[in-house]
Amino acid sequence: MWCGGSWPCANAAVEPVKAAEQVADSLEQEIVPRDSIERNGQSAQNRLLIKGGRVVNDDMMQDADVYIEDGIIKQVGTNLHTPGGTRVIEAKGHLVMPGGIDTHTHMQMPFMGTQAIDDFYTGTRAALAGGTTMIMDFALPQRGESLIEAFHRWRTWADPKVCCDYAIHVGVTWWSDKVAQEMEELTNEQGVNSFKMFMAYKDTWQLNDEELLESFKRCKELGALAQVHAENGDVIKENSKKLLELGITGPEGHEMSRPEEVEAEATNRACVLANQVNCPLYVVHVMSKSAADVVSSKRKQGHVVFGEPIAASLGTDGTHHYHKCWRHAAGHVMGPPLRPDSSTPKYLMDLLANGDLQTTGTDNCTFSAAQKALGKDDFTKIPNGVNGVEDRMSVIWEKGVVSGKMDPCRFVAVTSTNAAKIFNIYPKKGRIAVGSDADIVVWNPHATRVISAKTHHQAVDFNIFEGMEVHGIAEFVVCHGRVVVEEGEVRAISGMGKYVPTPVFNPHVYGRLEERERANAPCKVERAPYEGPVAQLNGQGMQEGGIIPVQQETFYTRGPTRSGGVNLHDSSFHVSGRQRDDDLLPRTSIKLVTSPNSSSSLLGTFW
Ligand code: URP
Ligand code: ZN
Ligand code: ZN
Repeated sequence: MWCGGSWPCANAAVEPVKAAEQVADSLEQEIVPRDSIERNGQSAQNRLLIKGGRVVNDDMMQDADVYIEDGIIKQVGTNLHTPGGTRVIEAKGHLVMPGGIDTHTHMQMPFMGTQAIDDFYTGTRAALAGGTTMIMDFALPQRGESLIEAFHRWRTWADPKVCCDYAIHVGVTWWSDKVAQEMEELTNEQGVNSFKMFMAYKDTWQLNDEELLESFKRCKELGALAQVHAENGDVIKENSKKLLELGITGPEGHEMSRPEEVEAEATNRACVLANQVNCPLYVVHVMSKSAADVVSSKRKQGHVVFGEPIAASLGTDGTHHYHKCWRHAAGHVMGPPLRPDSSTPKYLMDLLANGDLQTTGTDNCTFSAAQKALGKDDFTKIPNGVNGVEDRMSVIWEKGVVSGKMDPCRFVAVTSTNAAKIFNIYPKKGRIAVGSDADIVVWNPHATRVISAKTHHQAVDFNIFEGMEVHGIAEFVVCHGRVVVEEGEVRAISGMGKYVPTPVFNPHVYGRLEERERANAPCKVERAPYEGPVAQLNGQGMQEGGIIPVQQETFYTRGPTRSGGVNLHDSSFHVSGRQRDDDLLPRTSIKLVTSPNSSSSLLGTFW
């Protein structure tokens, strides 16, 4: 039992604790190999008709049938002519929408001494179960490690296991000329168009402002999209130390160490730095009202910036860090943290619904009870991460559409189309249209289910949405024209997913950048040259920015008296503390001269 406290912990009865060392074994799961595609009786040539549903795109809804061949949508309309032998899915009363795109996952990621328990098989299978047909994962090199090697390592992990399509963002976790060169190779040769920079995880992945600027400049040159994990890592380090000294070692310390303003400050700083070098910016995992407000207000100022809340920040909150059950509280630990305020999810959903925020990811990065327990005596050692890849679509439908905040078109925009546009894979992805990939979810908007770790498809033994009743079920999911979820039953095939290259210089992101740069370019004022006297700097040069080097400080700012002596109106000391006679032989005594109006010896010293 996890719960020793008085609060009931719905996750309590899920699964016996796995020892941390068992985690590696559990990643070796039984998976359906690619060669079972034939056994499964389907082929990429399959013809499929989705009949009688309401097709929903981000900009329109229409009652239409969708005909698919060879994994591509071939016809959308009514009274379609289809060849004999075509399989028909009856979709009356259902919505036919583009499959979801989860913009932010970490499958089997090595992190904080362990490895995320949902790998590319269990994670993408769970994604399909929930109606997501593509994920975007992060290849994150260790400090000093080649970005290209990290990228290939991720591909080697993903390719044999993925059940749905995937793209890769690459982390710029350190800075050097080599990193800059490798970024170019990744964009030119490997289909990477987004790089994530960390402002947190001090001493491992955190970049300082100068490195951030360099990486933003490089993204701009390459036509890539800069992404930031926006939290002030220096403040977090300092706060964590203080809290541990106070004896606060539990999961609540994680949240206390990084309050909302720590996220908002970094979000603002990232926006300013990116804007200064005209680099488009994408803020991953927006977790707080004030960080969301920063993104929203910078957009209003014309910055090219996008914000990604996640299923967790939209569907639950950080009051759980204060749960009496340690495992329950630790199960919610992620960075930036969920905010301990029940109005935050609704606020973020309003911004998402109204266009201030654009996409939704999950930051799916799951750890079992035993893995989380690596931090049982020290919250800084609790592996950061939560689930979401399976439940994102349902949670957003429930909290966004059922709540009346967004219509089905906006739902499609924030769960799929906007991601496809921002990462330059639209309309191949994110649209039901002729020529698009047949990645489709047949959604029953009225059916309900109760989310639970006991029934979910993920490998992790905990679910942050435990007990939540949601409307909206992915009854059929079609990925590359293949039916991979059938009346709720998942028929995923490992290795069936494909790597999706993301090209640079995306018109949806860079479209207005050149003009914006031109319009905002600094303009020289034409004037007659100054011809008056110019002060002498005593032969000393001036540094960049007009700073006169410290060692050039001089006491003599006034000319000598007529007899050649020191002008007594000159100061006898310098702001640095140096005195006029510091270079003379040591004095045997110091004469104090007091102010005529004061008995204060301190004041007298300086008078
Ligand atoms: O807690 C989190 N977010 N874990 C994954 C790593 C990251 O920062 O995205
Ligand atoms: Zn992050
Ligand atoms: Zn992440």
